[in-house]
Amino acid sequence: MNTVSTDRSIRALLKQGIEQLRAANVPSFTLAAELLLLHASARDRVWLYSHPEEILPEPVAEAYFTLLARRSSGVPTQHLTGKQEFWGLEFGVSPDVLIPRPETEHLIEVALDRLAVREIRTGRPPRLSGEGILIVDIGTGSGCIAIALAKELSAATIYATDISKAALEVARRNATHLGFADRIQFLESNLLDGFSPHSFDLIISNPPYISRREAASLPVEVRGHEPEVALYGGEEGYEFYGSLILEAANYLKPGGLLVLELGYNSLPAVQPLLETSEWLNIGVTKDLAGIPRVLSAERRIATATAKG
Ligand SMILES: C[S@@+](CC[C@H](N)C(=O)[O-])C[C@H]1O[C@@H](n2cnc3c(N)ncnc32)[C@H](O)[C@@H]1O
Repeated sequence: MNTVSTDRSIRALLKQGIEQLRAANVPSFTLAAELLLLHASARDRVWLYSHPEEILPEPVAEAYFTLLARRSSGVPTQHLTGKQEFWGLEFGVSPDVLIPRPETEHLIEVALDRLAVREIRTGRPPRLSGEGILIVDIGTGSGCIAIALAKELSAATIYATDISKAALEVARRNATHLGFADRIQFLESNLLDGFSPHSFDLIISNPPYISRREAASLPVEVRGHEPEVALYGGEEGYEFYGSLILEAANYLKPGGLLVLELGYNSLPAVQPLLETSEWLNIGVTKDLAGIPRVLSAERRIATATAKG
């Protein structure tokens, strides 16, 4: 049974929540306690810190203690609050989708940079509206990548695929809620089944890349609460990249760009898959922790083979 503090002031509740989550070894326990208190009280952070002595009604305190107990048992904070910020936008999340991670924002940065460089090379100004550009986000999950790109490239045509019907429902809801529903077509597809070859200027993906062998060592928040289809790339983890890269070579226009998120140890297995005659200008971008996180490349424009 939950113990409800007799002191129901915000300051006391927050302190008790922090202590409870710390004792349960919850990562980022202070932030988690804050977010759960904000969620239970339906208030914002400014209010929280400007009213430390305010007494919360008993049902709000009860709701907060229930959330703390669930968080202590391993339920991710985002599943309790139902949201996660990505690229300055608030995404709804559920157990049907991967919770968007901050490092995935590097994919958006690399894609925008490389598209701008392409423009400069063709003599156009680097300011991009995305006009005439066809993009697909493979494995869209919550829709975070496709929606962030729609925000930045107001004239691009954007598709987003996922093999999970339930994930696509979450992505469509997010696009509607954030005002991008008319900018993105969400399609249930295995990779790019159903599209025409040589269609896209940009193929972008944060694929499942965790090794099945590592499953037991994952935090309970991930292992027990995020969808398996979003996590595991195969026994080794990098297997999914093989089919993804083959498919991308077929579906990109000549000169089109591929931008992929990497697992913390994926680079040595994945980079060689791009070191073929089909790709050029391979780029590796590290995340803030110094981990090679984004692999990008350009589909080579086929040169006519000499006839002998
Ligand atoms: C790592 S999650 C990425 C979700 C989201 N793009 C993000 O960055 O937060 C991988 C996504 O790929 C989807 N997926 C797995 N296998 C797939 C396949 N064969 N074709 C299309 N999508 C697939 C999963 O359902 C999941 O939504």
